[in-house]
Amino acid sequence: MSRKLRLTALAGALAMGLVACGGSGAGSSSSAGESAAPEDLTIGVSMPTQTSERWIADGKSVKEQLEGKGYKVDLQYAGDDIPTQGQQVDQMITEGADLLIVAAIDGTALSSQLQAAADAKIPVISYDRLIRGTENVDFYVSFDNYKVGVAQGTSLLVGLGLLNEDVSKGTATGPFNIELFAGSLDDNNTQYFFGGAMDTLKPYIEDGTLVVKSGQTDIEQAATLRWQQETAQKRMEDLLTAGYNDGTKINGVLSPYDGISRGIITALQNAGYGTATNPMPAVTGQDAEIASVKLIADGVQTATIFKDTRKLAEQAVAAAETFLKGDEPKANDTTTYNNGVKVVPSYLLPFETVYKDNIQSVLIDSGYWTADEVAKGQSD
Ligand code: GAL
Repeated sequence: MSRKLRLTALAGALAMGLVACGGSGAGSSSSAGESAAPEDLTIGVSMPTQTSERWIADGKSVKEQLEGKGYKVDLQYAGDDIPTQGQQVDQMITEGADLLIVAAIDGTALSSQLQAAADAKIPVISYDRLIRGTENVDFYVSFDNYKVGVAQGTSLLVGLGLLNEDVSKGTATGPFNIELFAGSLDDNNTQYFFGGAMDTLKPYIEDGTLVVKSGQTDIEQAATLRWQQETAQKRMEDLLTAGYNDGTKINGVLSPYDGISRGIITALQNAGYGTATNPMPAVTGQDAEIASVKLIADGVQTATIFKDTRKLAEQAVAAAETFLKGDEPKANDTTTYNNGVKVVPSYLLPFETVYKDNIQSVLIDSGYWTADEVAKGQSD
């Protein structure tokens, strides 16, 4: 093609909006081209925070696996600060990253950075948390987050004795007092977790088996900004003061994440729960964080949801390699995750509910934690 012809074709494509919507790297070759060796390619990995052990594990797994394949990795944590994450991603782009893997703090806050990535033909993989409000996100790796919510609701019913672990009907009848916690509203996963849990609990609430004593059943009321343990502890304290200081007992708490569960448990313990005469309410969780796995082993927390961060990292790395070869990674869900602008092709992994009796088979036998770490409640 002559230069003039190429320019004419480009102008035509621009006029049709093709460049704007096709430039984000999905299926297009990376800026480094197909022939670049891994050693010549840098992958920017942007993670939300190091205050939660799961994101440390995620960052470590992604970095190690990419480096094991020869890629250079620029791993950054944003301290749960939205502007910091924006600056870090900007910097990755200006320093020539060939691909980005991003777990967003606020799913809607990265549009301008991702436009810059698209302009530079840098593919973007959204890691565990869907990036919203932009067409410039090429792939999503996560778990089935609605089903995680269903599993959390189910584990609350198991903890209360309304169901058995095999989900057959339990011997308890209720009524039980419960309270509900949700995650951070700026995280797209929050609505899926809470939605799945509430769909599971709703029939029991409607027939009076479960009573949300505070009446706080809306996601906005239940939400916990930035998934903070302290924020959850404070809300639990307030709920206990307002609704349970007349001797009424609370029997269960829906929690979407282990850090939040630990805040809830601290508030309950400070209020005198967790003794032979005043048993700890059923409390759910997510992420199999080591401190919480010990609480489950000790019979303090009921359950957690185990999402294997090593496998999530593997999927992200496989998708990254495919993009860098100029191909499109294989999705196993192309309908669920609409980010407000488009449905983002997704690869969703399975997860497991962990109770006291399967800590060994699910977490220890798989090498995720050692028996010694579980006993100490600390990673080595
Ligand atoms: C969510 C994630 C959960 C939990 C939470 C708090 O996005 O899916 O597994 O880690 O963030 O970090």
